[in-house]
Amino acid sequence: MRVAVFSTKPFDRRFLEESNSGFGHDLTFFEPRLTLETTSLAAGFPAVCVFVNDVLDEPVLERLAEGGTTAVALRCAGFNNVNLAAAERLGIKVVRVPAYSPHAVAEYTVGLMLTLNRKIHRAYNRVREGNFSLDGLLGFDLHGRTVGIVGTGQIGALVAGIMTGFGCRVLGYDLRPNPDCEKIGMKYTSLDELLSASDIISLHCPLIPETHHLIDAERISQMKKDVMLINTSRGAVIDTPAVIEGLKKGKIGSLGIDVYEEEAEYFFEDVSQRVIADDVLARLLTFPNVLVTGHQAFFTHEALEAIATTTLHNLQQIEATGRADNEVASRPSESKS
Ligand code: NAI
Repeated sequence: MRVAVFSTKPFDRRFLEESNSGFGHDLTFFEPRLTLETTSLAAGFPAVCVFVNDVLDEPVLERLAEGGTTAVALRCAGFNNVNLAAAERLGIKVVRVPAYSPHAVAEYTVGLMLTLNRKIHRAYNRVREGNFSLDGLLGFDLHGRTVGIVGTGQIGALVAGIMTGFGCRVLGYDLRPNPDCEKIGMKYTSLDELLSASDIISLHCPLIPETHHLIDAERISQMKKDVMLINTSRGAVIDTPAVIEGLKKGKIGSLGIDVYEEEAEYFFEDVSQRVIADDVLARLLTFPNVLVTGHQAFFTHEALEAIATTTLHNLQQIEATGRADNEVASRPSESKS
């Protein structure tokens, strides 16, 4: 199949080309993100391959359809950046990679917790400057603490398992409880109870209309003082200005985020020579108790291999049968992601 690959980084190209030797698709790589301005690059391609910050709203999908595109292959699990109703109306199939390495994201999530709690990022810089003082590096034992997991699917369940290993009490909130989590001792609660009882809250639900700004000022007010909040799901699950207020008031003790609502402008790029015009992001970067990373939780060898192979397999199925196992349903709240 002829495929226009957008948002190509050297690592995307490497893993897709290696995997494509077993598929034989005709891949053309473009570095820009897919936006209305770059849609013309896809003209004449039956398939486009995109990532988390490509734009697939109605105008872009209409332009793609006019150019003959009938398939969108997401190189990710989340599909919040696609207008699925418009895609269905235009006859464009949307496929994704539902599970490439939930371990990659779960392990990274716990890495954020450990780093923030024990201030390893600050110690690293300090020691390199010859400062071996422990002032300001005080953490707490994870053992015995309560961890609340919002969204107990593949990633949330793995985080729950790891935290159980640390000797934490693990609470879960999900619309569809996961029996595997209950087997390892997680207790399902209401969201209200999870928020008020947890020392650490970790978000692992998809971004869908129901979870947009799930963590807002009111929900923050329900949390314990000094709570640690971790988000490796999607940026807009939290209302970032409300979280900044929580940090300023000392309600939120620390924040670890790998995703940010307005990340498309900055993440995956080196903008070190530019001024950051986004005042919310710039403010976040000033807090000593906030750790921001640029959407790298998925970034392991195993995950990239699985993303490439599943993406090319999805396209092969679409080409052969017009359908694929990993098609995204048109009503997002009914989809598993
Ligand atoms: P999953 O589909 O296995 O699990 C999501 C869970 O959230 C499901 O159990 C679902 O029932 C639950 N859920 C849905 N609506 C909810 C609501 N309103 N409240 C509470 N729970 C709700 O998905 P998986 O693989 O665990 O991934 C979770 C999210 O992680 C993805 O949607 C994606 O946004 C994000 N992600 C981030 C990555 C990164 O690099 N930072 C990489 C991969 C995924």
